Amino acid sequence: MKILGIETSCDETAVSIVEAQGDFNTPVFTVLGNALYSQVKLHAEFGGVYPNLAKREHARNLVPLLEKTLTEAEVYFIGGKEFSEAQKTTLEELFSHEPELLKQFLVQIPKLATPDIDAIAVTHGPGLEPALWVGINFANALGLIWGKPVIPINHMEGHIFSAMLQEKSEARNPKLEIGATQFPILALLISGGHTELVLMKNWFEYELIGETLDDAVGEAFDKVGRMLSLPYPGGPEISKLAEKSRMSGEKPAYPLPRPMLKSDTCDFSFAGLKTAVLYTLKKIPELSENKKEHIAHEFENAVTEVLVVKTKKALEKTSARTLVLGGGVSANIHIRRSFKKLVEREFPGVALLIPEEKLTTDNAVMIAVAGYFRALQGIPAGAELRARGELRLA
Ligand code: KG4
Ligand code: ZN
Repeated sequence: MKILGIETSCDETAVSIVEAQGDFNTPVFTVLGNALYSQVKLHAEFGGVYPNLAKREHARNLVPLLEKTLTEAEVYFIGGKEFSEAQKTTLEELFSHEPELLKQFLVQIPKLATPDIDAIAVTHGPGLEPALWVGINFANALGLIWGKPVIPINHMEGHIFSAMLQEKSEARNPKLEIGATQFPILALLISGGHTELVLMKNWFEYELIGETLDDAVGEAFDKVGRMLSLPYPGGPEISKLAEKSRMSGEKPAYPLPRPMLKSDTCDFSFAGLKTAVLYTLKKIPELSENKKEHIAHEFENAVTEVLVVKTKKALEKTSARTLVLGGGVSANIHIRRSFKKLVEREFPGVALLIPEEKLTTDNAVMIAVAGYFRALQGIPAGAELRARGELRLA
């Protein structure tokens, strides 16, 4: 089965084609095409993601990215049909808020022969609603023209599947496998918009174990990055500074709190930590590069310690057999290292799954893969698709 994946929930526009084989137990995926346009540089000027700017960029880039993916997957064939008047009217309605996308769609898509794909999977939440709508409208339009079912995907479920994919070859079209899955799976999902511990008891059966009461981890990284005058997104920049300080062997000079470390719940809070950084900075008259490194180091240590301790608590509470890390922040090397250590030392029976680095941040491969699992379960017939900014797993 071939799935076209579409992702537009935040600031990455991504389209992929993934070929999938096998059942729930040992599925194998081949990435046939994968095109991604990151808007990060654009948003960096404003120090954060602007929903309307994100929406505009998605609308501009979806058609070219689709063409790129189809070409890479060798399913780009000229030979389509002119749209009928009825189709044109429906498309005008669908893209009433995306005139630029409509224009490109009307020119480019009729040229294409219907590609050899079986379904279209698209992120319908959580995320920025204006951005989500662009992907959804695009998926619906393609589904209509090509006569393919459209499968709505929860972005966070995509991040979980991202971690489960293990690369098996470095060939031109890498093969990704999911090994025998040991339930229950505990997923620590850490991204720009989310921080949560979710238990997957079986396929698509979720229970919320803990979540942030205020800021998401990625958000805290980005805000502290801004306080240290680092470019957006702050996460990777802070990580670089922290590693430098760690390598020097110096002990971080400015202590920061570990919020909610001792509380009984598996919930998190990062707003206080961020404010503590602000107060610390106020007391430093001249912020040298070395002092920035010390703050980044201590901040990263504080975040990691809280994540590790809460996850440990959740592992004990749930007796999970697999631990999955997912979301953009799981690219952080100190966090990756610390979790490897935790599992090796204290939970040797637990399988730790961390996404390949290129699959940590938002991408459409994970959406296509999630689409395959949803398709195995049975594609929901004609369910109305709408953007759900606050969509939850549980
Ligand atoms: O999952 P993602 O790509 O988008 C959302 O769904 O939010 O996550 C983006 C977040 C940003 O906050 C970014 O700063 C953070 O992931 N991030 C990192 C690292 N790489 C990305 N945070 C810490 N260390 C990193 N190496
Ligand atoms: Zn994400």
